[in-house]
Amino acid sequence: MPRTLFAGNWKMHKTAAETRAFVTAFLPQLAGIPAGAGIVIAPPFTALATAHEALDGSRVALGAQNVHWETQGAYTGEISIGMLQEHGVHYVIVGHSERREYFGELDRTVNLKVQALLRAGLTPIVAVGETLEERQAGRTDERVISQIREALNGIGDRDIQRLVVAYEPIWAIGTGQNCDPAEAGRVMGTIRGCIPALEDVPILYGGSMKPENVAAYMAQHHINGGLVGGASLDATSFAALIKNGTMDA
Ligand code: PGA
Repeated sequence: MPRTLFAGNWKMHKTAAETRAFVTAFLPQLAGIPAGAGIVIAPPFTALATAHEALDGSRVALGAQNVHWETQGAYTGEISIGMLQEHGVHYVIVGHSERREYFGELDRTVNLKVQALLRAGLTPIVAVGETLEERQAGRTDERVISQIREALNGIGDRDIQRLVVAYEPIWAIGTGQNCDPAEAGRVMGTIRGCIPALEDVPILYGGSMKPENVAAYMAQHHINGGLVGGASLDATSFAALIKNGTMDA
């Protein structure tokens, strides 16, 4: 797994046709980006088949935004790991704050999803982060430590070394109010420090990361890349962000 990683989280954006247009525009712009940097796009489920086909033979890996932990069954509206694998998915975002806030994602279900993904050989991108209220109350570290411990509960060291963590302060997501890079790096150091097996795991920053601010994040010791929402929707902007974030790599 690459140590430097940029993942585009498209959320509920782009049809299959729009996905194809993005990939056509995006791939030629990746020339010059160091080969060691991992690049992932995570489109909606309905665009995975198209993305898989369009990305074939490229360096860009495919991600999904959610998954169910059971292999099959009576779970209306859910998608299994096998269904994702059929479309070439290698990464799955788990525990995004929007899923926690609007769709009832719990630390317990995050843990079940992480376990199931690791069993299947996929890479979970485990998202944690504090609300504005928690930050203002001085509870940031306590919050993210509790989320990461619960997410990785019962998972062995060797498996932990196969996942990716994303620190996304909720107040910084989609607001243009990005977290101060030094403070993000500090929190990410705290996350890494609370579980010894996380020492070499990539930790991504997420929350209004842009081509203009990515270098300041990447200069931080504990920041290994980004989980990018808004700035990943435009091919030129996402390519510029990855370029600016890997300039010193
Ligand atoms: P943003 O989203 O880059 O639009 O702030 C990041 C995310 O939610 O993953």
